[in-house]
Amino acid sequence: MNAVANSDLTTGHAPFIEEAQRQGDLYIRQPYELYSAENHETWRMLYRRLRPRWDQYANERFQAGIESLCLPQDRIPRLEDVNRFLSPLTGFRARAVSGYVPAFVFFDCLRNREFPTTVTIRQAGRLDYLPEPDIFHDIAGHVPMHTDRHFAETLVRFGECAHTAAAVVSEIRDPAERVRTLTSIFRAMARFFWFTIEFGLMRSRDGLRVYGSGLLSSFGEIEHAVSSPDVQRYPLQIEWAINQAFEIDHYQPLLFIVDSFDHLYSLVDELERWMKAGKLNHVAPGEPEVNEVDLRSFLEAAHLTL
Ligand SMILES: [Fe+2]
Repeated sequence: MNAVANSDLTTGHAPFIEEAQRQGDLYIRQPYELYSAENHETWRMLYRRLRPRWDQYANERFQAGIESLCLPQDRIPRLEDVNRFLSPLTGFRARAVSGYVPAFVFFDCLRNREFPTTVTIRQAGRLDYLPEPDIFHDIAGHVPMHTDRHFAETLVRFGECAHTAAAVVSEIRDPAERVRTLTSIFRAMARFFWFTIEFGLMRSRDGLRVYGSGLLSSFGEIEHAVSSPDVQRYPLQIEWAINQAFEIDHYQPLLFIVDSFDHLYSLVDELERWMKAGKLNHVAPGEPEVNEVDLRSFLEAAHLTL
């Protein structure tokens, strides 16, 4: 393959990624030599815009994480450099993937302290809105949180919950009932993950601060989440979050608040207890849609088929 001709790792325009997907390779290397000058410039612009907003709105553990990872401001980071700083702190590491990771595989990676990381970056002309993750969302939005011990343990706990879900549904004899139950449990987990890890707010001495990565990687929404009168903000209740549909294509009108990372960890513990007690088996229908790839990933973990 001609490296110069294919020198582009822009979301949706990356021949290296398309080839990996054609080959069925989920885990890949980060082909650092293929980033174009424009790709690096996109990172620099995103970072420069977000930096002052992190100072104003981000949780203090995120800000400490940015410092301890020594993320470069002017170019896309190499994952190996990020991991050199990250791994000694919590055992987590960023691992390059070629695209969508089936849900069970994703959660199982978290259990093994690996974070599936997108290596492409958004187009230069689309800094603000991106429906799919890119390396800025994953490395600048998620990974700084992984330097915090309590947060890291919470992610591992999420991963364990996926195993519990597979075990719970493997007890159900009727295949149709098994799939229906799994759909409900996974929808509950996806909603809980969305309203915490991706869009969570936390109390602090200085008011509300952001710890959710979807907010931390969005120049517009990080401020909107904390300051806008158009957002409803409530203490996180499991029974609400697991039954609350969400849409991914606009700013979130409803966000949930936790008190601390210890509090968040205890809520994931409780989520697992609810799962074992059957309390996630009939959550409200609606978004997110649950796809076959995700369902199959859980069933394969339980040595079952769809
Ligand atoms: Fe994310």
